[in-house]
Amino acid sequence: MSLHHILSLLIWGGITAVFFSCTPKNENLPINDPHSYSQPHKARVVHLELDLQLDFDQQQINGTAVMQLERQRGVNQLILDTKDLDIQAVQISDDGGNFSDTPYLLKEKDSILGAPLVIELGPATRYVSVRYLTSPGAEALQWLPPELTASKRAPFLLTQSQAINARTWVPIQDSPGIRFTYEARVQVPPGLMALMSATNPTSLSENGIYEFRMEQPIPAYLLALAVGELVFEPLGSRTGVYAEPTVIQAATFELAEMEEMMQIAERLYGPYRWERYDVIILPASFPFGGMENPRLTFATPTILAGDRSLVSLIAHELAHSWSGNLVTNATWNDFWLNEGFTVYLEYRIMEELKGPDYAEMLAALSYQDLAKEVIKLGPQSPDTHLKLNLEGRHPDDGMNSIAYDKGYYFLRLLEQKVGREQFDAFLRKYFDTYAFKTMTTERFVEILEKQLLKEDETLMEEIDIQAWVYGPGVPRNVPQAHSKRFEQVEAVLMSCMAGEDPQKLETANWSTHEWLHFIRHLPDSGSASLMTHLDQTFHLTASTNAEIQCAWYTQALKNQYEPAYPAIRNFLMHVGRRKFLMPLYEAMMQTPEGRKMAYDIYRQARKNYHPIAINSIDRVVGWVE
Ligand code: BES
Ligand code: ZN
Repeated sequence: MSLHHILSLLIWGGITAVFFSCTPKNENLPINDPHSYSQPHKARVVHLELDLQLDFDQQQINGTAVMQLERQRGVNQLILDTKDLDIQAVQISDDGGNFSDTPYLLKEKDSILGAPLVIELGPATRYVSVRYLTSPGAEALQWLPPELTASKRAPFLLTQSQAINARTWVPIQDSPGIRFTYEARVQVPPGLMALMSATNPTSLSENGIYEFRMEQPIPAYLLALAVGELVFEPLGSRTGVYAEPTVIQAATFELAEMEEMMQIAERLYGPYRWERYDVIILPASFPFGGMENPRLTFATPTILAGDRSLVSLIAHELAHSWSGNLVTNATWNDFWLNEGFTVYLEYRIMEELKGPDYAEMLAALSYQDLAKEVIKLGPQSPDTHLKLNLEGRHPDDGMNSIAYDKGYYFLRLLEQKVGREQFDAFLRKYFDTYAFKTMTTERFVEILEKQLLKEDETLMEEIDIQAWVYGPGVPRNVPQAHSKRFEQVEAVLMSCMAGEDPQKLETANWSTHEWLHFIRHLPDSGSASLMTHLDQTFHLTASTNAEIQCAWYTQALKNQYEPAYPAIRNFLMHVGRRKFLMPLYEAMMQTPEGRKMAYDIYRQARKNYHPIAINSIDRVVGWVE
């Protein structure tokens, strides 16, 4: 870009500042997002048209993003978020045809936020086109060689845009408060299927070209793409599952309750607004359990336990179709509005599906997670507030389980105080009123006080919103989960600790959750012989249930129970779900021998993980390349 162009951009920027006066009419008032450079109150993207060519050999996307804009009068520039994108050309158009070059400036890169792309607009510009290449290190993208897939026959690509990674594969206004509709055309090698958070194919395209549409406006963090050897199997009239051919049968069995979950969710929270709900079971290196990409939840294969015992994860991602995807957190500081609500909805769906005893186990485990997280972060830590302040930090660093578990308990407290009937009516209305809109914590508190609590002083004092939302730790009035099934587990645990023969323990009807409660409460050290007895009786090291494996292996590391080590290594080589990797690597880092083991495993396993997981584990083990 020439000096002339840079100068003209600077001058135009100055003129804008003088002329910018009117406030936007848009009722979705733009919010200042510390994790995006885009200035949506000046010019914002309302529709995106993507054209992507995927090069698996170079591990690169060659893309063109055409964006339709809404802008304020007098505003002459559009700012997009980018990170590690190689910008090839930028053009503008008034009517969507006849594009012509325009000056642009890719500013200096911030290590967290990436580089703002400032594009000069003409007086009547309504379309901007950006041609670009992604980089091999793009944080959203994981390019898997065939060996890392289930079938081991074809390569796989998966994206993870939340929280701020969309900008590493699409130049876009990457802020949860900015919504747009999209279309895409994706070209992939023959034999592979491409799927997005949009209308999806159910069979292979002969020429490797796929077309997509998302007609409901979504924020950039919900942009998603998966490409691989995939097949589709319907589950109900508007639900289905995609997976690799060798996984599809297990997936179909595991997810059979999905249609029923949808009916429950709709009964509780109003109509499902995204038409279809499908799930894709990804290769094991997917860094999360699930990701609520609209119309197509991305899920880890570690939920395929064979007995439908881990499907609450699907209830969770489905629930995001209301909390998160419909009513969206304005910035990542308001993350609890997405996740706390979703955990609450998840447990309500599971309560309808499996009964209150079952849901109460989930709630009790949630409390354990909350207590552990508060201890880990420190009871006074600002990171234990529901309303976060992540400015200057990578959102991933502050997005811990507080949003989920403290958020859940806050909503449970509200339900307890006003009664279920009133709370349900409130939530339903909330989702209707703010559908496809953005919500801040402050605005939610206002709505809560006015509409649910009717400004009743006594009630508001009892609840203490201030302490829950803007204060640290776990407030005193936290509701108690009562799980009868866990009380039975605790009795078994007592007799086990008292030396009872494991063969005689009453574990026959235990679900995964009872096992988790049991394993989590085993002693943290010096119990290798107890571990041996339990393992001989219950074959926990050989479990194929990833939740049980993670809990048991963590305990094995703490107790230096060596017979589990080969299985731990094997697990860490194949599974990339960050929630499982973190406690295992953290446990290994506690002792000198453990550290050796951690480096040794990580040296080989690192290449199997998604960049998001690598970022986290690098820090745990102090990895320097
Ligand atoms: N939206 C989250 C995943 C996420 C959060 C990705 C923050 C990136 C940044 C998803 O809905 C989620 O919460 N997944 C959980 C499972 C759930 C059952 C708690 C997970 O992946 O473990
Ligand atoms: Zn979630």
